[in-house]
Amino acid sequence: MSTNNEQILTPFDIGNLHLRNRLAVAPMTRVSATEQGLATDTMARYYERFAKGGFGLVITEGLYTDQRFAQGYAFQPGLSDDEQALAWRAVTDRVHAAQGTLFAQLMHAGALNQGNRFMTQSAAPSAVRPKGTQMAFYYGQGQYPVPQAMSDEDIADAIDGFARSAKRAMTLSGFDGIEIHGANGYLLDQFLTDYTNQRDDRWGGDVRQRLNLTLEVVKAVRQAVGPVPLGVRISQSKVNDYTHKWAEGDAGAEVIFGSLADAGVDFIHVTEFEAWAPAFPDGGDSLVSLARRFAPQVALIANGGLNAPERAVQARREGADIVALGKAALANPDWPKRLANGQPLADFDPAILGPIANIKDSELALA
Ligand SMILES: Cc1cc2nc3c(=O)[nH]c(=O)nc-3n(C[C@H](O)[C@H](O)[C@H](O)COP(=O)(O)O)c2cc1C
Repeated sequence: MSTNNEQILTPFDIGNLHLRNRLAVAPMTRVSATEQGLATDTMARYYERFAKGGFGLVITEGLYTDQRFAQGYAFQPGLSDDEQALAWRAVTDRVHAAQGTLFAQLMHAGALNQGNRFMTQSAAPSAVRPKGTQMAFYYGQGQYPVPQAMSDEDIADAIDGFARSAKRAMTLSGFDGIEIHGANGYLLDQFLTDYTNQRDDRWGGDVRQRLNLTLEVVKAVRQAVGPVPLGVRISQSKVNDYTHKWAEGDAGAEVIFGSLADAGVDFIHVTEFEAWAPAFPDGGDSLVSLARRFAPQVALIANGGLNAPERAVQARREGADIVALGKAALANPDWPKRLANGQPLADFDPAILGPIANIKDSELALA
């Protein structure tokens, strides 16, 4: 092992959970569950490969959290009832048998819902039509509908959905930790984002107020699950607005990362298109560096374009404790083993995700 690669291949602990190395699989929605949102045998085999391939941590795709507005995609898996939670047991068992660890990513789609079998309408902080168009590889087409603005009761239900799903994940499914999806344009990020949150109640206003829902979700989940690894994923860019930047710049980053740290999260997962790029147009620090500075005690996961080992090592130098790989892990489910053994890495082939982003037999044959 070269000295540089050691930076990412050495063990790391999040709370009392031991990870055999600092390489994680980033959450990736693959719309391969049953119509009822149950994890399948194909999914168990898909996730197992990453553990067998040496990843210390695997984070699931976004799992919907309630049977109202949370589901965003047809064939998306959920944690919204006991049956869905128990279906994950086969996945966690396989990952654990391969010495891996698995975190559940809890996701509420909000206005970005393009396939919800419980509700005909979407719900969001304000009745603002999302930018962009629905994703065809998740069975969507055309514009997103205008969502209804959530009532206090809707918000309370959404918080409750996160807490109950987290509890099911830890008690019924056998997950090792929880990642709350606060990024990429979904519900919690819609609350955080100035142009999608036009509320003037306690859930809207300045950046600290717009973070309120995320902080309340963290609190409710922590109460539900106790001292297990718990974190939040944060981004500026969105699946429907890639180039969005926080208007508050570094000061916004201080509020966001500082408040999450104060709320007692064990980890923060930041994602950018290129994790090493300056966070804001005026140059300056990357989001990884800012998160490190404003949340110094919290474990930090970095993601975004880190497929080359030198980039992954650079993210560690900027303060990341763990490096998460998305597309590179799809191309190389055994990326950590390849690195350790000095084997070449395969390039990502976008055909894997088309025409629908479901798990392909060719992937299962990869490792
Ligand atoms: C097919 C696909 C599905 C994704 N689904 C999710 C998801 O469910 N939750 C999430 O937080 N990010 C999701 N992402 C974003 C990835 O986690 C990651 O941030 C992105 O791929 C950039 O990292 P990379 O350059 O290593 O691929 C998805 C990405 C891809 C390619």
